[in-house]
Amino acid sequence: MGETTAHVASVAERFEELYGAAPEGVWSAPGRVNLIGEHTDYNDGFVMPFALPHATVAAVSRRTDGVLRLHSEDVEGGVVELPLTGLAPESDRTWTAYPAGVVWALREAGHAVTGADVHLASTVPTGAGLSSSAALEVVTALALNDLFGLGLKGWQLARLCQRAENVYVGAPTGIMDQTASACCQEGHALFLDTRDLSQKQIPFDLAAEGMRLLVVDTRVKHSHSEGEYGKRRAGCEKGAALLGVDALRDIAYDDLDAALARLGDEEEVRRLVRHVVTEDQRVEKVVALLESGGTRSIGEVLTEGHASLRDDFRISCPELDLVVETALSSGALGARMTGGGFGGSAIVLVEAADEETVTKAVEEAFAAADFTAPRVFTAVPSAGARRVG
Ligand code: GLA
Repeated sequence: MGETTAHVASVAERFEELYGAAPEGVWSAPGRVNLIGEHTDYNDGFVMPFALPHATVAAVSRRTDGVLRLHSEDVEGGVVELPLTGLAPESDRTWTAYPAGVVWALREAGHAVTGADVHLASTVPTGAGLSSSAALEVVTALALNDLFGLGLKGWQLARLCQRAENVYVGAPTGIMDQTASACCQEGHALFLDTRDLSQKQIPFDLAAEGMRLLVVDTRVKHSHSEGEYGKRRAGCEKGAALLGVDALRDIAYDDLDAALARLGDEEEVRRLVRHVVTEDQRVEKVVALLESGGTRSIGEVLTEGHASLRDDFRISCPELDLVVETALSSGALGARMTGGGFGGSAIVLVEAADEETVTKAVEEAFAAADFTAPRVFTAVPSAGARRVG
């Protein structure tokens, strides 16, 4: 999972086999889970992700001849060679669009990146809503930032990676995942204001308080470029325009009823607005609870968040709902879907003593429903992107 010295060495060795010389360095960037604050990031709102031990590791060397060579341990096929002058938005529908998009975004922003050899190996499950794409983007950006001496900070790299994803890959995502991968710290959740990217690291050590956070990957693959995410985003933008604000973040929780009344018979937009405004409020509640020693009580807020995503935002699915219902009825403190929705993963907060019972109950419920067996693991807040070799 995390990058042990042996893992880093093996990625470097593989690089040498592929490209004929040792890499100049090795970098790592994690996937994430979001504790609370879903579909708020493109509304200028609040989010609270933390980094997973699962990460993408990249061995990288500079080139000076305008060529980008990419290889991944996790994808069939050999080294892909791309001339930098040929990089163009939405020209690539394969995995190479993510690292190539980052190189494109850096060069577009005026940074002198003259080419690179890159070898990647990832332990972040793909399509599980755990930000494998952001890990791939951020590890590439950080490696090039260091090698070409660009001097960009984590949040600036996150912005460039988001641009790569929005424009080059063509997925209209927000800024949460890239910032989480670039800026999270071990043992902490990241309270992020996505309007100005101001950050607060909130200590989050569930083990010390006798609890666990389980991640349940439903194995239902989701894809953000496939329309529904974009539709929700467009609906939120319509809501902001109808209400005369820059973003839904500008609707205060206390003004929600009045705002909903003003939306009249725009039922679909009313639901989206209600989710976003109440979700921002839930993030603030969770921060307040964590800062005042009320960690157990965050469970309820997580569960409320799930209901809002299921009923108002309408992005859950039967598998995610089954995780939440089963977890709660077998003793969990709270549970909700995490990430973009339509599949991917759920998170479950449990007392350490109940971890096995809840896990077993979820596995049995999936078997009884004839769903693919879920993958369950305990999430430990881990380090953000960094150089590891
Ligand atoms: C995906 C996107 C993020 C965010 C979440 C939902 O993970 O990449 O920007 O919008 O969905 O909270």
